[in-house]
Amino acid sequence: MSRMEIALKRQPGQHLRPDDFELRNSALDHALDKGQVRLRVHWLSIDPYQRGLLDQVPMFGRRVMVGDMMAGRGIGEVIESRSERFVPGDWVIGETGWATEAIVPDSALVPAAGASEFLSHHLGVLGVPGLTAFLGLHALGDVGEGDVLLVSSAAGAVGSTVVQLAKARGVKVIGLTSGAAKTSFLREQLKVDGVIDRLQGPPLPQALREAAPDGFSCFFDNVGEQMLVDGLGALRPRGRALLCGYIAGYEVGAPVVPAETLRLIMRQRLEVRGFLVHDHASRFGEARSALEDLLRSGQLQAVQTVVQGLERAPAALCDLLAGRASGKVVVRVLGSG
Ligand SMILES: NC(=O)c1ccc[n+]([C@@H]2O[C@H](COP(=O)([O-])OP(=O)(O)OC[C@H]3O[C@@H](n4cnc5c(N)ncnc54)[C@H](OP(=O)(O)O)[C@@H]3O)[C@@H](O)[C@H]2O)c1
Repeated sequence: MSRMEIALKRQPGQHLRPDDFELRNSALDHALDKGQVRLRVHWLSIDPYQRGLLDQVPMFGRRVMVGDMMAGRGIGEVIESRSERFVPGDWVIGETGWATEAIVPDSALVPAAGASEFLSHHLGVLGVPGLTAFLGLHALGDVGEGDVLLVSSAAGAVGSTVVQLAKARGVKVIGLTSGAAKTSFLREQLKVDGVIDRLQGPPLPQALREAAPDGFSCFFDNVGEQMLVDGLGALRPRGRALLCGYIAGYEVGAPVVPAETLRLIMRQRLEVRGFLVHDHASRFGEARSALEDLLRSGQLQAVQTVVQGLERAPAALCDLLAGRASGKVVVRVLGSG
């Protein structure tokens, strides 16, 4: 038995390129060990953290070496099992790698309940990005009426969920994004109160002052670097900021935190909190069922970009990092599900 997989062909430079990867055939013919399942992979998740797996000094401790299959999460159908938890026909989520088939220990898999129209959303609004939005808003101090919230990468997988959850609570939301399509999507579809195109118009500090003349009460930051500095500068005294990610630094890797920003935190008595969703795993069940109810009732839109074909996964990751995608980016591997 063989599978198609995407491997890292060479060490990426500062900006990742699709041809840093190659598509290849590999054998996957060994018998399953006890507890393992063989999966046919249907969906892959494209995520910012995957850029950090390719660095020579890896961002999260794990590293994909030249010649290795690219790591990543996916959704698959069990086609053979030596597990007591899963039987052929079950749908599961876990670390599959960028491949058409995978052999995975059952301990590393969770069920993808209901192989339905919602299947790929288990990687997006019902998966890590949705949980990050839901639990991140809670960690920000349960925003509500009277709050003025700034969200960076507001059209992204996490951001598009944050803005909808906050709007549903009566919060005034200003989103940061890039490009006319994402700007009008946020305004017209997600009913965001104000949108700033980070690549157009006045310098960001001025645009933020114009959008919220009395300042923001809270800031959900997905981008980091200069956007974090400018967003903190736009908070009211005692404002709150959640540091969720720093995608602007994943490729360039040059941190910009001027000492002046640290002084500002003190002078303005800002509350600045770092957030990692996996610290909140005990609340995943509760958060996922709340998100699923909102999705089923139509109160929450799943914003998703579907890329067709395993071979397009490298370009999908490059597009995500370059701001060319919107919502949750998923790759449909085999055209079913
Ligand atoms: N803390 C946690 O536990 C946790 C969990 C999941 C994700 N995260 C982090 O949360 C953030 C959002 O994740 P996501 O999956 O929803 O990704 P995402 O926001 O969809 O990421 C892609 C978007 O980031 C924005 N971006 C890229 N480079 C930028 C730059 N140099 N300056 C400004 N914006 C830039 C672009 O949006 P625009 O063009 O629209 O600005 C781009 O479309 C990421 O930083 C991710 O690593 C954290």
